[in-house]
Amino acid sequence: MIILAIETSCDETAISVVKFSGGKTKPKTTVLSHLISSQAKLHAEWGGVVPMLAKREHMKNFTPLLVEALTQAKLLKQNKTNPPTGGETISPATKNKIQKILDREPELFAELIKVLNTTKIPKIDAIAVTSGPGLEPALWVGINAAKALAIAWQKPLVPVNHMAGHIYAVLANAKNKIAFPAVALLVSGGHTELVQIKDYLKHKIIGQTRDDAVGEAFDKVARLLDLPYPGGPEISRLAKDHQVLRENLAQTGEASRATFQQKSMRVLEEQLGDLKLPRPMIHSGDLDFSFSGLKTAVLYLTKKLKEENNWNDQIKAAIAHEFQAAAVEVLVYKTLKALEKTKAKTLIVGGGVVANTELRKVLTEKVTAKFPTVNLLLSDTTLATDNATMIAIAGYLSMTTKSASRRIPPLAKIKAQGNLVLK
Ligand code: KG4
Ligand code: ZN
Repeated sequence: MIILAIETSCDETAISVVKFSGGKTKPKTTVLSHLISSQAKLHAEWGGVVPMLAKREHMKNFTPLLVEALTQAKLLKQNKTNPPTGGETISPATKNKIQKILDREPELFAELIKVLNTTKIPKIDAIAVTSGPGLEPALWVGINAAKALAIAWQKPLVPVNHMAGHIYAVLANAKNKIAFPAVALLVSGGHTELVQIKDYLKHKIIGQTRDDAVGEAFDKVARLLDLPYPGGPEISRLAKDHQVLRENLAQTGEASRATFQQKSMRVLEEQLGDLKLPRPMIHSGDLDFSFSGLKTAVLYLTKKLKEENNWNDQIKAAIAHEFQAAAVEVLVYKTLKALEKTKAKTLIVGGGVVANTELRKVLTEKVTAKFPTVNLLLSDTTLATDNATMIAIAGYLSMTTKSASRRIPPLAKIKAQGNLVLK
């Protein structure tokens, strides 16, 4: 089965073509193309994602990305029967239907129809598209484009929950097998969730953030530290700088501390020697999270340091390091609790924040030490942040596990659902 998957829930336009075999018991994936056009730089100017800007960019990026994805997958064949005079191969009735669907995306309609008129129907079996959660204006672009393709090519369209994509992204790696029951820790820019999984696509949320998502906290703290959006990778980089500094200090000892006589370093040691940020809700007894207090603690700290004129790169790195340590500690603590509670055989970790090296390291250490029989599946860094390969995988599982009416609803029923909950 070959699936063309489309993801436009946030600030990445992504299209993948993925070939599957083995059914749900032994899913085997072969990625034929995996394309992501990131708008992060554009949104960085505004300090975060602007939904209407994201929508505009998705509309602009979609068709060129589609052509490239199909070309790389060797599935795009020119339609030789198309008259050179510019006659159309799409019937007027079909064109009409597509135009109605892309009513609010007229530029996208014009671009897409050009491609549809000059190329043959690609040899794919289904189209999968993210229907939520995410930014609705952004989601609609992918959904409407997917509907247009489903009509033009007469292929089934499978709506996919973005968070299910983050869970099953681990199946892209052939070595990864999920033994049930499983638990997933999902950490992204919009979500922080612990999910109990009884079987493929049978989810129950057993813990979640009561305010900010952890990725959002990374992004907000980054802004307080004058770092660009998206903040996660930036914080991670700064925290590493600070770690190196600490290790050097520990190794060189008292004798060479004289070499660190800059004012900044003294201030760092004097003022931040006992720098300790809160670990919110760590002992709450449930599996929920809270990250807004952590961000507020950083806000007050930065204000104070700025007022005292103690604001420099080394101090920023020290704060980034402590913030990351606090966030990772809470995530890991609650995840271990979830493993204990559910007696899970597999722990899956997905979402953009899995790209964080510290989180990967601490989780691996603790899970190996405390739950040696649990199979830990960390999403590959390249598949952790938003992409369409993960949507193809979740779409395939949907095709192989759900009943026909549930996996392929009528097109009119497929809608953008900003707050779609994982079930
Ligand atoms: O899953 P994702 O790509 O998009 C959403 O569905 O939200 O996650 C994006 C989030 C952003 O908040 C970004 O700052 C965070 O993932 N992120 C990281 C790292 N790389 C990306 N957070 C911490 N450390 C990283 N290395
Ligand atoms: Zn995501």
